[in-house]
Amino acid sequence: MSSQNEWYFQCISCGWEKPISLPDPTGFFCERCGDLLQLVLRESPPDKDELFPSNVAMSVWKYSKALPVEKRVSLGEGGTPLLKSRNLGEVLGIKELYIKYDGLNPTGSFKDRGMTVAIARAIDSHAKILVCASTGNTSASLAAYAASGGLKSAVLVPEGKVAKGKLVQAVAYGAKIIKVNGSFDTALEMVEELVSKDKNFYLMNSINPFRVEGQKTTAYEIYEQLGGVPDYVVLPVGNAGNISAIWKGFKELKEWGIAEKVPHMIGVQAEGAAPIAEAVQKGYERPRIWSEPETKASAIRIGNPVSWKKAMNAIKESEGSALTVSDSEILESRRKLAAVEGIFAEAASASPIAALSKMGSKDGVIVCIATGNGLKDQELIEWDTEQIAIADNAETLRRIMMK
Ligand code: F0G
Repeated sequence: MSSQNEWYFQCISCGWEKPISLPDPTGFFCERCGDLLQLVLRESPPDKDELFPSNVAMSVWKYSKALPVEKRVSLGEGGTPLLKSRNLGEVLGIKELYIKYDGLNPTGSFKDRGMTVAIARAIDSHAKILVCASTGNTSASLAAYAASGGLKSAVLVPEGKVAKGKLVQAVAYGAKIIKVNGSFDTALEMVEELVSKDKNFYLMNSINPFRVEGQKTTAYEIYEQLGGVPDYVVLPVGNAGNISAIWKGFKELKEWGIAEKVPHMIGVQAEGAAPIAEAVQKGYERPRIWSEPETKASAIRIGNPVSWKKAMNAIKESEGSALTVSDSEILESRRKLAAVEGIFAEAASASPIAALSKMGSKDGVIVCIATGNGLKDQELIEWDTEQIAIADNAETLRRIMMK
């Protein structure tokens, strides 16, 4: 890994800098203007051979030269397949459509990429209780990494709005689960206040810039798997950490002289929870807060995304766009992705597929990120179970199959 003193915190707005010496600041906010901090590598960035060592299997920690911490707790995150579409792309008139199946991470979502890096920092910081607000996946991921690292975790979730599979994971991994009467946004406000007042609690949401560092490895993997940079990356946007992280990864590849271009970043939100898409489409300087976000894709049911500025920058700088899709479009795309590609994704993760037909230009290589696994939110599935026939002997089976 690159030595820690080469990295520093930098405010995303005013450029204020701070060394990353331990312990961490409470809350990870700029001490001058209050905005978010990001991590920057000051000098000697890795060259291509250092970043992509040929004798190491693909995983988050393969890219340790571009990570600000050493590995402490790992469950085998990253190294997920980039699958070339065999059917959907053709139907939609897209020559090269790929799905990055991040639902195959250890706890079933991309969150594990950021969690393995953030928990390393938490351990170095002697953190006592790891805490996050979550629509479900972050809580499952945090709970697992805390369990493996022997740390306590507390997760705040919006009451009645978290997929059962995700809650079950957090229970199994032994997190303290607190239900909040309100949305994810209310839960995150509570967590922020808590960590600012009590140093026993350590923030594990994507405000924590170490989470972002782990999640940027999706860009590195796509680059390696494609042998280059795609033209478009399409992904769901909730709290807006992941689009910011993946954009950071691609930008680094270009700045470090490894890649020649960057992709257009296309952020997708559900119609009922679309503050960033609204702001991009209407030309607002900052998103309006949606106080009652609503969508069946509960992972992205967020009305006040904390990383809005980074996400809007990513979309603007990359000459990308932000699109909205309806719940019925999301659920239909989820069904299709499973039925014609064999990729089972959770509802939110199918939103990029739903958005493909709404993209202005579809020329070139398009990568959709399937962020979470379909086993997580099975309660949303209303598919026709009539097709499940009963056969008690070979003859009935034969007749059923020939129908
Ligand atoms: N897809 C899935 C499956 C998610 O769980 C999330 C976010 C997103 C996309 C959006 O990513 O927030 O970085 O823009 N889930 C968070 C959680 C909010 O608590 O699990 P984002």
